[in-house]
Amino acid sequence: MNKNLIFRKSYVDGNWTTDGKKTFKVTNPANGKTIASVYDGGIKITKKAIKSANKASNNWSKYTAKERSKILEKWNDLILEYTESLAEIMTLESGKPINESKGEVEYGASFVKWFAEEGKRAYGDVIPSHTKSQRVIVIKQPIGVVAAITPWNFPLAMITRKVAPALAVGCTIIIKPADETPLTAIALAHLADKAGFPPGVFNLIVGTDSAGMGKTLCDSNLVKKISFTGSTEIGQLLMSRSSKTLKKLSLELGGNAPFIVFEDADIEKAVEGAILSKFRNSGQTCICVNRFIVHNKVYDEFTSKFLLAVSELKMGDGMDKNVNIGPLISQEAIKKTESFVKDALKNGGKLITGGNSIDKYFFEPTIIGNVNLEMKLAKEEIFGPVAPIFKFSSDKEAIDIANDTIYGLASYFYSKDINRCWNIAEKLQYGMVGINEGLISTEVAPFGGIKSSGQGREGSKYGIEDYLEIKYMCFGNIK
Ligand code: SIN
Repeated sequence: MNKNLIFRKSYVDGNWTTDGKKTFKVTNPANGKTIASVYDGGIKITKKAIKSANKASNNWSKYTAKERSKILEKWNDLILEYTESLAEIMTLESGKPINESKGEVEYGASFVKWFAEEGKRAYGDVIPSHTKSQRVIVIKQPIGVVAAITPWNFPLAMITRKVAPALAVGCTIIIKPADETPLTAIALAHLADKAGFPPGVFNLIVGTDSAGMGKTLCDSNLVKKISFTGSTEIGQLLMSRSSKTLKKLSLELGGNAPFIVFEDADIEKAVEGAILSKFRNSGQTCICVNRFIVHNKVYDEFTSKFLLAVSELKMGDGMDKNVNIGPLISQEAIKKTESFVKDALKNGGKLITGGNSIDKYFFEPTIIGNVNLEMKLAKEEIFGPVAPIFKFSSDKEAIDIANDTIYGLASYFYSKDINRCWNIAEKLQYGMVGINEGLISTEVAPFGGIKSSGQGREGSKYGIEDYLEIKYMCFGNIK
């Protein structure tokens, strides 16, 4: 591994900096061993970053889109050049299997490339006027200072998905990564420094006082927007804390994805999709399937083929390239997953495979049948490798089960009937629908949810709008 990419400090105003001598340990979730000690920034460094981002804002907004794009392109090239090292750092601190980590580096870079291009197309409008003497013009301008608060489950891509559109349109940025996975974020900042963003445009603050740092960002009048990926509870907190300054918010929050298998589905394809969408990152993504909903007539066939595919998954340290299921992020995550399984089995669920934590850091891929809507795992986001399977017998029943949740992020279903595909897709109350597809994430499409899964969209042409203000200009007295 390229040790030169391991840094331990925050990056503010173009300098590597700390709040003092205090450090915190970053550990490998596959074995609990310390990987590095990182300087623990807090409120002081957050204030410094706000000042620096604000100071740089005016100048950066005056760069042409093409000038900004060139620096973003350079950052993209550097991220791709360092794919192997970034992936190794990511696997070490997050446990993600190495092949998935490599995939995430490419996925993350794709947002930088996409928005480097898209920034040049942040068009306004000329609106046909309502009077002879006036002209109506709309321009779009950068919001200003943006704070990106990012999660541990995608330590790289959730940063680039927020930072690239912000920088592309002329906003400056303060990133607060999860304290479980700061090393990938710090390596990204190092590559951003090499790419040549002017001082203060790109700031990264690392620390364990997430509450204090988050509050400082929310309370500041200089921070104009917060983009957050994480739990619904923290999203709600950020929203209420931001109400005083009426900040704009993009919130990508929890999910409870249904995966419906209709009786006319291609079962082989459904199983392939089920494995991808349930067990990616050991079940620790916001769009992982939370509930399988399978028609009575194909329940046995789907379940037995799914079981076979699950039995082929290899669990272990993510650094082993043959591993598909890495550790869970923490002991707390293991306990939470255990409690879901316990609750389901106590209430009549039938264990089909798995169900146990292994060697302290891992949780077996698990399938539970005979589940019902009262169980905890039907209501809450599992965020672990547990697959509960419901039965249904009519389309209405499937839709009712699928929509019976406060969440509305991703959903999936399999059917060969085109009319059913349209109807079901329209009825699912979700921001994203995979139709005969279990892997839906891409930089070209709008990622985001409705209901308690949040607001705003990331990626695609829609993802750039969240970082722009609309200004209407009325030219009067035209002769
Ligand atoms: C997430 O889990 O928050 C993001 C998943 C993705 O981008 O595919």
